[in-house]
Amino acid sequence: MIEVRNIKKTYRNGGIPSEVLKGLSFKIDDGEFVAIMGPSGSGKSTIMHILGCLDSPTEGRYLLDGKDVSGLSDDELAEIRKKKIGFVFQSFNLLPRCSAIRNVSLPLIYSETDKEQRRARAEKCLEAVGFSKEHFDYLSNQLSGGQMQRVAIARALVNNPSIILADEPTGNLDSATGKIVMETFRRLNTEEKRTIVVITHEAEVAAYSDRIIYIKDGLITEEPIKGK
Ligand SMILES: Nc1ncnc2c1ncn2[C@@H]1O[C@H](COP(=O)(O)OP(=O)(O)O)[C@@H](O)[C@H]1O
Ligand SMILES: [Mg+2]
Repeated sequence: MIEVRNIKKTYRNGGIPSEVLKGLSFKIDDGEFVAIMGPSGSGKSTIMHILGCLDSPTEGRYLLDGKDVSGLSDDELAEIRKKKIGFVFQSFNLLPRCSAIRNVSLPLIYSETDKEQRRARAEKCLEAVGFSKEHFDYLSNQLSGGQMQRVAIARALVNNPSIILADEPTGNLDSATGKIVMETFRRLNTEEKRTIVVITHEAEVAAYSDRIIYIKDGLITEEPIKGK
């Protein structure tokens, strides 16, 4: 379970410190599918980096499966990320001259598994996101945006994380392709019971979730749910 209590984040870039998160508190249960919505600059990516153990809050507590991770070292956070969290980004972040399979299997390179096992695991994850077999060995720059994002989701799954965090995953996709990506998350939630947190500023995207957390100016806000 994810629980944040009064999370604050202040960036200090030489000049005047700017408080981006001003005291966020919420819980996300195991197996929930939650959307985080808010205008640009409201702090969505900042809270996602904290939830994903990529960054630490300036103040407040972050309890992940009951363990306080707010004060852990970078190495300890990396260990938690590897075990529990998969990331999907707006810009896919694939390696351009590598095949779909290689992009997905790469995170396994430091684990015990041999090459055959890594490939088998990558194939399984690509199949789980509906990526067609005939494209497994295509280079990522030969794929469409929707195919690239499915490779990115498969890569997020490869370490079998319980939590998937996605930051504007449909931001670079047309709406039909965005739909396919959101249906993929929906299936990973319903069939595989993974916790999904999707950041978006689009109501149609958020409509795939079970619950919406609204953020405005670094605080939770109650907003009417549009389009529902
Ligand atoms: N590393 C950083 N250093 C300084 N300011 C930052 C940094 N990251 C984000 N910000 C600022 O924090 C605010 C919130 O950013 P962000 O969390 O990316 O918002 P959102 O994802 O909702 O668009 C913005 O004003 C942004 O400029
Ligand atoms: Mg953002």
